[in-house]
Amino acid sequence: MLTILAPAKINLTLEVLGKRQDGYHEVRSIIQAVNLCDSLHFQSGRGIEFASSSPGWVAEESLVSRAASLLRETTGCTKGASIEIEKRIPLLSGLGGDSSDAAAVLRGLNELWGLGLSRDELLELAPRLGSDVAFFLYGGTALVEGRGERVTPLPLLPHRWVVLVIPSVPRTPGKTKRLYSRLNASHFTDGRTTERLVESLKAGGGFTPSLLFNTFENVTLTRSSRLSVYRAHIVKTGATSVHLAGSGPGLFTLLKDKNEAEELYTRVLQQGMECYLTDTATAVEIVE
Ligand code: C5P
Repeated sequence: MLTILAPAKINLTLEVLGKRQDGYHEVRSIIQAVNLCDSLHFQSGRGIEFASSSPGWVAEESLVSRAASLLRETTGCTKGASIEIEKRIPLLSGLGGDSSDAAAVLRGLNELWGLGLSRDELLELAPRLGSDVAFFLYGGTALVEGRGERVTPLPLLPHRWVVLVIPSVPRTPGKTKRLYSRLNASHFTDGRTTERLVESLKAGGGFTPSLLFNTFENVTLTRSSRLSVYRAHIVKTGATSVHLAGSGPGLFTLLKDKNEAEELYTRVLQQGMECYLTDTATAVEIVE
């Protein structure tokens, strides 16, 4: 059996530069993979079958089914597979779980079926599934531009522990689209914040939380929102810098020290919040 790990991600920066002619938004973002992973187990089979015991996960609503069909259509491959997904990444939380699973399906079936597609060939398919899928063909730390499909690997962020909190607010499909549609010119930035972090990583320089930025916080973490109440609560629990993961509602804080991270994680759990302790991840490998 072939097993592929599909990591979650957080956006260290997420700048939206403006709206494009095709309806998407031009983004400049630094994405970091984290070691909270779904596991995908691949076995040869007749048709294409997906299974997961995760409550609320439905294959037909996930990008994984489309990823498998797309790979078959483009290569003409008629082989089958049975794929079991162990979900650990919370659904619809801004951590990119479904996009990561879709990228893992591309990588896994490429290997299982012996298709020999290169990363560049898989990268051509990724944007047809979703804007975030391309990043997960790299993992590690990467600059992401365009609508998300242009990925440039960066030197890895110095190792950090990551405390993830999933606030108990409604999480509905289509939330990313709705969030983008709430953006106006006041939320658009020029990409320079991201450039600063790129330069710092390239220079092997230090990393400070002041370099983190996510324009969606200006929409979701407004003074009266439930999410900002959560953020304030996590800060009271001991976190210094709490940020939105992608389009949320996941929130994260980065820590250098393992003991501090474990203590924060324990305190947040004791407050009855859904919480994960993980750390920053390295790049993924593609077997061609
Ligand atoms: O690419 P994906 O299907 O994940 O995007 C979901 C929706 O989010 C898109 O239909 C679009 O409305 C919005 N989006 C955007 N600009 C991006 C990425 C997504 O406007 N760069």
